[in-house]
Amino acid sequence: MRRFLNAGSVALPTFLMALVASVPLYAQLGGRPAEQWAIVLESGRRLGSLEIENVVSLIEIQQGQVVADLGAGTGVFSVPLARAVGATGTVLAVEVDQGFLPMIDAKAREAGLDNIQSVLGEFTDPNLPRSDVDVAFFHDVLHHIDQRQEYLMTVASYMAPGSRMVVVDYDMNQPRVPHGNQPEMLISPEQVAGWMANAGFVVSRELDLFEEKFFVIYTKVDQ
Ligand SMILES: C[S@@+](CC[C@H](N)C(=O)[O-])C[C@H]1O[C@@H](n2cnc3c(N)ncnc32)[C@H](O)[C@@H]1O
Repeated sequence: MRRFLNAGSVALPTFLMALVASVPLYAQLGGRPAEQWAIVLESGRRLGSLEIENVVSLIEIQQGQVVADLGAGTGVFSVPLARAVGATGTVLAVEVDQGFLPMIDAKAREAGLDNIQSVLGEFTDPNLPRSDVDVAFFHDVLHHIDQRQEYLMTVASYMAPGSRMVVVDYDMNQPRVPHGNQPEMLISPEQVAGWMANAGFVVSRELDLFEEKFFVIYTKVDQ
C-alpha cells in the first residue's frame, strides 16, 4: 500500500508537470489551421482589397535592405517585398504556424526569388537569424498577437536606430471592424503608438490609404 501511494504521489505531479510544460504559455488570437486559413488569406476578394503594390511602394524600401514580414501567412506580401529589396536584399518571412512555411517557400520558388527566407517564430520572439533588420512589417497581424508589447520589444531588439516598423491593421474605432465581438482582438492606432514608444519607436508617417485600417510607419530613435 505504502509503495503504491509513493508511486502515485511521484507519478501524478510528474505527469501534471509534463502536461503544463507541453501547453504553450501563449497562443495566437483567432488562429486556425494553416490550410484552412490559406483559403481565406488568398481569396480573390481579400487580395483585391489589400492594395499590395501600393502599400509596398509607400513604405519606400531600398534595394539591399533586410525586411521582416512578421506573420507572413502564405506570403502574399513577402514576394512584392522581396522584389522591392532586390537581389542584394533579404525578406525574412516569419510565421508561428509551421504549416505556412512550405507555402511561403513555394511562392518564392514560383516567383523565381531566392531572397526570401522562411523562419519559424515563437509567440513572443520571431527568432530572426540576424539583427540588422531595416523594416519590420506587420500586415493584418498585430491584433492576432497575444503579448503585443512584449513582441514589439523583442522585434525592436533586432533593429538599430533609424530602422522602421510598419503596421497595417484594423482600427477598433471604425464601425465595421472585424472581430468586433472579441475585445481581446481589437487594437487602435493610439494603443500601437504607446507600445511602439515603449519599444523606442516614434510615429514617422501616417498613410491615409484605407478607411477601416490604419497604416503607420514608426522609426526607431537613438536612446
Ligand atoms: C490574418 S493572417 C495575415 C497574414 C499575412 N500577413 C497577410 O496579410 O496575408 C495573421 C497571421 O499572423 C500569424 N501570427 C499570429 N501570431 C503570430 C506571432 N506571434 N508571430 C508571428 N506570426 C503570428 C498567424 O499565423 C497568421 O498567419
